[in-house]
Amino acid sequence: MTLVLGIETSCDETAAAVVDDASHVRSSVVESSIEQHRAFGGVVPELAGRAHVATIGPVVRRALVDAGLDHHDPAIAGIAVTSGPGLVGSLLVGLSAAKAFALAWNVPFVGVNHLEGHLFAPLLEHADLEWPILTLLVSGGHSLIVLQEAPGRHRVLGATIDDAAGEAYDKVARWLGLGYPGGPEIDRLAQEGTAGALKLPLSMAGDGYDFSFSGLKTAVVRATERHADVALADVAASFQAAVAEQLLRKLRGALEHFEVRGVALAGGVAANSALRAGVAALARDFGVECHLPTMAMCTDNAAMIAAAGLYRLAADGPSPLDLAANPNWQLASVS
Ligand code: KG4
Ligand code: ZN
Repeated sequence: MTLVLGIETSCDETAAAVVDDASHVRSSVVESSIEQHRAFGGVVPELAGRAHVATIGPVVRRALVDAGLDHHDPAIAGIAVTSGPGLVGSLLVGLSAAKAFALAWNVPFVGVNHLEGHLFAPLLEHADLEWPILTLLVSGGHSLIVLQEAPGRHRVLGATIDDAAGEAYDKVARWLGLGYPGGPEIDRLAQEGTAGALKLPLSMAGDGYDFSFSGLKTAVVRATERHADVALADVAASFQAAVAEQLLRKLRGALEHFEVRGVALAGGVAANSALRAGVAALARDFGVECHLPTMAMCTDNAAMIAAAGLYRLAADGPSPLDLAANPNWQLASVS
């Protein structure tokens, strides 16, 4: 059995995992530096980079030990590492570590696109996936609708033209005086509020699969200035409903247009309760399989990077040891 070590350091999570070629996760370790960023209302790149430097060694060692491997001479056949997109100072820590381990253990390594990693997450949780699959990939940095014909074969149908969905959650939370990250807090508050309380516009109502969340954020600011008496929970519920409606309308449009066997959610915003319920309802309506990730698979982790790396090593072979970090690497350029 082939074992691959995955390493992920693109944002504020330092992660390492061992995955085998039957898509079994042998170990998965995630250390987040989020506590250091909270006071600043967002991830501070310099702090994230420093945290990765301090944590990467122990995290990799723990992933090897948890998988029952000797950390001096592990039975690892390859190393997969996120080489983009992400914060350049953070990416470089994981990339340098991966190259050092590859040299020391004399095994190949491959640079993985972080977003392709998210697309491989359902493979680790559902044994018999049937393709094609439509995936809504929504995180703090990205919002995409992707048509996956098979593992590693994907087409980006649409993307946000301004803010990502998670970014909109974080910005609205900040405006409302809630903590960072804003998504979980707004999601929790929204359960206690009434969605129609604040009238908000539906962005990108026409055809096409692109999203826009910047106008919605501004609309929340204006509406709460005008109606200062609306309860916080009602604002949260109204904003959450507007985000979900936009995302789900586009997903419904794609389901009407493309014949698929399943729908999947991926990325940090896949933890959102309204989105999970909406995607499950759409899957029922269209009679397709629904792949909702567990909470651990929503957030950044290295198991999904190892899974994508296993595919890329087999399909394209290893990357050169002088591979550079690519902070703006587009998923559309990976195929
Ligand atoms: O994928 P992720 O962990 O990091 C990035 O790669 O960006 O996503 C983090 C984002 C944050 O913007 C956070 O506010 C959002 O996911 N998020 C949520 C929820 N949980 C996390 N957004 C809405 N509802 C949630 N329950
Ligand atoms: Zn991510």
